[in-house]
Amino acid sequence: MRDATDRLLPPEAVTSLEDHLDAGGGVGLERALSLESDEIIDLIGDAGLRGRGGAGFPTATKWRGVRETAETAGGKLSLVANAAEGEPGTFKDRTLIEQQPYAFLEGVCIALHASGADTAYIGIKEKFAGPLERLTAALDEIRDAGWQGAERIEIVTGPDLYLFGEETGMLEVIEGKLPMPRIVRPYEAGLNATTTVSNPTIVNNVETLSHVARILANGADWFREAGTEASPGTMVFTVVGDVDSPGVYELSLGTPLRTLLEDIAGATDVKAVYSGVSTAVITPKMLDTPLCFDAMQDVGAGLGSGGFVVYDSTRSIVDVLSVLVNFLAVESCGQCNACKLGNSEMADILARVQRAEASQTDLESLLRRSHTVTEQNRCYLPVGSQLVVGSTVEAFVDEFVATVEAGEPTPADLPTPLIEAIDGDTGEVRYHERYHLRQLDWSYSDEDPTEERLAALRGDPPETPR
Ligand SMILES: Cc1cc2nc3c(=O)[nH]c(=O)nc-3n(C[C@H](O)[C@H](O)[C@H](O)COP(=O)(O)O)c2cc1C
Ligand code: SF4
Repeated sequence: MRDATDRLLPPEAVTSLEDHLDAGGGVGLERALSLESDEIIDLIGDAGLRGRGGAGFPTATKWRGVRETAETAGGKLSLVANAAEGEPGTFKDRTLIEQQPYAFLEGVCIALHASGADTAYIGIKEKFAGPLERLTAALDEIRDAGWQGAERIEIVTGPDLYLFGEETGMLEVIEGKLPMPRIVRPYEAGLNATTTVSNPTIVNNVETLSHVARILANGADWFREAGTEASPGTMVFTVVGDVDSPGVYELSLGTPLRTLLEDIAGATDVKAVYSGVSTAVITPKMLDTPLCFDAMQDVGAGLGSGGFVVYDSTRSIVDVLSVLVNFLAVESCGQCNACKLGNSEMADILARVQRAEASQTDLESLLRRSHTVTEQNRCYLPVGSQLVVGSTVEAFVDEFVATVEAGEPTPADLPTPLIEAIDGDTGEVRYHERYHLRQLDWSYSDEDPTEERLAALRGDPPETPR
C-alpha cells in the first residue's frame, strides 16, 4: 500500500535510463544547469528540504555553509553521498537505489553543480551486492549519455560496520582507513584535510539527494504540497518487527505515526517502537504524533532515518533492550573509553538480567552508565545509547524491576534488526544472519583463528616445506 504522494518510490522499478527520461527524469538536472549555484541552493532552501539520514538538518544550510568554508578556509570541496544504510530497522536507501537509481544519481549531479564540488563519492557497503550492481550499471548509463558531472562520481565500497554510515567514519573509509569517527565535522575538515587545508565536504543521504532531483524538476511549492511547514515533503519509511505488512512506504511528513504502523503496516498490539538506535523509545501513548522532525522530538522521541522496529506485548523489554544495546556495544569503535566500556557494561548487565543473574543494584548501574556513556564522545553513537537505555528503563521500569525480582531467565531470541531483505510479495524480512556472532572487536566468533593461523602466529615451521 502506498500513499497518494508517491514521489520517490515508483510503482515499478525504473530499470533503464530511457525509462527514467520517459517518466520525466532528467528535467531536474537540465534546470539546475541553467541556474547559478546560489539560485539552486535558494530553491532547495525555499523547498525546506531537511536531511533524511537521521538528523533532519536543512540541506540548503549545509551546502551554503560548506561553500562558505571552502571560500574562506580554502581547499578542495567534495561531496559524499551516504548509502551505508547501517541503522537498524532501515531499508529505504537500498530500496530507492534498486527501484530508482537515476533520480538519486541526478540529485548527485545537481549537488555537484550547485556546490562546485570537485568529486562526488558514493559510499556503499560492499555487502549490498544487488544495490551496488544496480548503481554501478546506472552510473555507466548516465556516463555514456554524457550527463554533466557523471564522470566525477566515484563509487566507494566500505565495510559492514555501523560507523561506516557516520559521516566522518565514511570520510575515513574513502581515504582507505577504518571508519573511526573524527572530532571535527566534515564541513570544517573534509576529505584529506590537513592542519592547513580544510577541504570541506558535504555529506548527504541517498534519499535527501533523490528529493533534490524532484525539487529542481517540480519546484519548491510542489515539494511543499506534501508535509508540514517545518518538515515539508514526503519521506520513505521502513517498518519491520511485529507487524503484518513489513515494508518500505513513502508518506507525507506529518502523517500520524499510528497511520504508518497500524493502518499501513498492520501493527495491532504495539508495546515499544524504536526508530533505529539513535532516538528514545516510542510507547503506545505517542502513536498519534505526526511523523515530522520537530513533533517527534517534542514527545521525547525522534524521526531518525524513518526506520521503525515494532515490538508487541509478547516481547520481553529486557530482551528488546539487550539486542539494541549489544549492537551499540559491538559497533562502538573504542576511541572513547566511556563509550566502548559503558556500552559493553550495559550490554553485560542486560545479559545478566536475561540469565537471572542480576540484582536491583545492577539496574542502578545500568542507569548510571547511561548517563556517563557520552563522556568525551567523538560521535553521536553513545548519545543514541543514552536515549535508548534511559527512555526504555524509564518507560518500563516496573517490568525491569519485576524481571530482576522474579529471578527467572527471560527469552533471548530476538534478532538484531539489521535488515538484509524484505520480500515484497510475502512480506518476509531477512535480518543479518551472523550478527549474534559479532564480537566487541568487530570479528566474528565463528572465525576464531584456525590451528594453521595459530601455528603461524607461534612461529611454527610450515607443514609443507616450500
Ligand atoms: C553512528 C551513526 C551512524 C550513521 N549511519 C548513517 C547511515 O547509515 N546513513 C546515513 O545517511 N546517515 C547515517 N548517519 C548520519 C550521518 O552522519 C550524516 O548526518 C548524514 O549522512 C547526513 O545526511 P543528510 O543531511 O542528508 O541527512 C549516521 C550517524 C551516526 C552517528
Ligand atoms: S563515541 Fe563511541 S563510536 Fe563514537 S568515536 Fe567514540 S568510541 Fe567510537
